[in-house]
Amino acid sequence: GRRFFVGGNWKMNYSKAIADVVNNALNNTKDVDVEIVCAPPALFIKDVVASKPAHVQVAAQNCYLAKDGAFTGEISPEMVKEAGCAWVILGHSERRTLFHEDDDFLKKKIDYVLNKTDINVIACIGETLQEREAGKTNEVVERQVKAYQEKIANDQYSRVVIAYEPVWAIGTGKVATPQQAQDVHEHLRQFIGKNATADVAKSIRIIYGGSVNGANCKELAQKPDIDGFLVGGASLKPEFEQICKARQ
Ligand code: 13P
Repeated sequence: GRRFFVGGNWKMNYSKAIADVVNNALNNTKDVDVEIVCAPPALFIKDVVASKPAHVQVAAQNCYLAKDGAFTGEISPEMVKEAGCAWVILGHSERRTLFHEDDDFLKKKIDYVLNKTDINVIACIGETLQEREAGKTNEVVERQVKAYQEKIANDQYSRVVIAYEPVWAIGTGKVATPQQAQDVHEHLRQFIGKNATADVAKSIRIIYGGSVNGANCKELAQKPDIDGFLVGGASLKPEFEQICKARQ
């Protein structure tokens, strides 16, 4: 079975008060069968590593693709590891849109992370509203996931979680319906399997992101191909506890 997975993407938000709220929520999830990963801004990774409950893991929101060197403003996967992270988020739509990261760059990043470190990857994909309305959702997510897959060996899929985050649902309060998400996840699982193996299709976790909250998470979590969530705004609030318990 695929273990339920909930990521909290804190984006560019941090305060001691936020960390306290999240820790309180997570203290009530110790006995829940769920893999929980929090992704604070890089400067605060060490604080969160020091204060988080033991069952929670930490992710970086991004990284570069070299160990060290003249790359002003970047952090390396090795530094992410050293700070105590087991995971890194790659290809978030905000990185793609605001910081111009494209499939070609992202495939080089996932290649580096998977082959030069033992860090796990939350690999993000998702279509814009314009692309959805033009009937191009499957085409877009296939192109994005294929780029990652070109660099993932069959025995590395256990280190990868695919996050399907439709851009129109991120931070908008417009959550995809459970059926809309299920349809894309089901399609992706088949597509991923075709490029890898049937075993990979069966075991890879595909999580949904975009306006997930304490009220809508349960229904989404019932869908057979939704294996968890990547949560933005609600990952900073007490309701993150309910989201981590969505499959209970
Ligand atoms: P929201 O949950 O705030 O819509 O953000 C989703 C997201 O981008 C998680 O990576």
